[in-house]
Amino acid sequence: MSQIKFYNREPVPVEMHKVKIVQKLSLLPAKERLEKMKNAGFNTFMLHNGDIFMDMLTDSGVNAMSDNMQAAMLHADDAYAGSETFYRMNDKLTEIFGIKHLLPTHQGRACEHIIAQHFVKPGSCVIMNYHFTTSKAHVTRLGGRVEELVKDEGLVVKSDLPFKGNIDLDKVKACIAKEGADNIAYMRLEAGTNLIGGQPISYENMKAATELAKEYGIVTVLDASLLQDNLYFNKTREEGLKDKSIREIARMIADLFDIVYFSARKFGFGRGGGIMVRDEEMFHAMEDYITMFEGFLTYGGMSVKEMEALIVGFEETMDLDIISQGPQFINHCVKELDKLGVPMVTPGGGLGAHIDARQVVDHIPAEQYPAGSLVAALYLCGGIRGMERGTLSEERNPDGTEHIASVEMVRLAFPRRVFTLSQTEYVIDRVKWLYDHRHLIGGLRFVHEPKTLRFFTGRLEPVSDWPEKLIAEYIKDFGEDQ
Ligand code: F0G
Repeated sequence: MSQIKFYNREPVPVEMHKVKIVQKLSLLPAKERLEKMKNAGFNTFMLHNGDIFMDMLTDSGVNAMSDNMQAAMLHADDAYAGSETFYRMNDKLTEIFGIKHLLPTHQGRACEHIIAQHFVKPGSCVIMNYHFTTSKAHVTRLGGRVEELVKDEGLVVKSDLPFKGNIDLDKVKACIAKEGADNIAYMRLEAGTNLIGGQPISYENMKAATELAKEYGIVTVLDASLLQDNLYFNKTREEGLKDKSIREIARMIADLFDIVYFSARKFGFGRGGGIMVRDEEMFHAMEDYITMFEGFLTYGGMSVKEMEALIVGFEETMDLDIISQGPQFINHCVKELDKLGVPMVTPGGGLGAHIDARQVVDHIPAEQYPAGSLVAALYLCGGIRGMERGTLSEERNPDGTEHIASVEMVRLAFPRRVFTLSQTEYVIDRVKWLYDHRHLIGGLRFVHEPKTLRFFTGRLEPVSDWPEKLIAEYIKDFGEDQ
């Protein structure tokens, strides 16, 4: 079962868990939020968490653990080498993915660092359905290049396509012909494609793409960080998989790849990461990077307590009731905002609800970061922290000009099992208010711009006094103390 039915009203998502421990939240008065935003350089990454009411920045490392995950921590076996916890974790992942060898890492980007370090040479090309910020940065750092070959319709904001993360097989063939298979370091397919709105990729598409890669001897890599949401969509949207269990689908997907890696800050409800390697020789060739950059081979930078919790978390990921929660809450948020006329990325995906900033603030030039401006405004008007996923999250072109992102979005992430439906309704209400007052939002410009991954720590300022005017209007409707 994945959705509770209702008797005489439209169904809404119902939490399939109860709250056992809570954290108090506070909503700062509007004018104080303006001060906090100025101190944070109009970058939501730089806000302090205590100043935030709804933290929807990310679903990474902030998912709620279950009672069983917390209880499992007591079994953790502390040892520099040979921890029993590691062998239990390896066994659980082998049981799920059918791949024997595990290289543990401290988080997802560490996996990307190691995979890129092993395969990418200057001038190599890496094929992806779509890039993720850190996965691309690790390839380009080593002089490689990313070819994003998602189907064109994946970038259409408003759509009813069930699998917008699918890769275009004709583009893959053309890319192999142009580059030559030897120059392709690997093909990386991302489940739950993050930067186009957490949109899933179908099993059929992964199968066809990996078969093509294998024909040419190209190594196939699955980024399984968002696999839990992707599995829900494979099960509920993909004809032919409706009768399969989540466990069966996970195994069918993993069977297609040489390497499966994940950020356990998403996959498994904990913190950490891992690379599953099918081929023994390849596995041994990558081991040295773990001992050099991560930790010993039986913890890889993770705390054994987290690893013990993850073992239970991986098992929970095989439970349809549990993995339905995120996509159902996101779907509710997307559908309600869509009904209210707010331009949203549809259909709702995993990981979060995504607002199409390019349409909402179409008066802000691309070089003044429309999504960056909208996400700053949303903190001012509601204490809600989202994340910019657009031009600000891109690196500049080599000639210093802006690389205008193909999609310009504000992401409202739904950390798994964290927020209730009434909190979701509050977010819907404030987004609608902001949409109705969108003409008051202005652009931003950098005052401190780091060269790499600038969105994390860059500082910006508004191009005019629009934040003051926006807050004044907000106070008229909601009062000083909200
Ligand atoms: N791959 C995907 C698909 C991701 O979403 C992330 C992280 C990573 C790799 C890197 O993993 O953070 O553990 O190093 N996404 C986070 C986010 C940061 O907020 O979307 P990490």
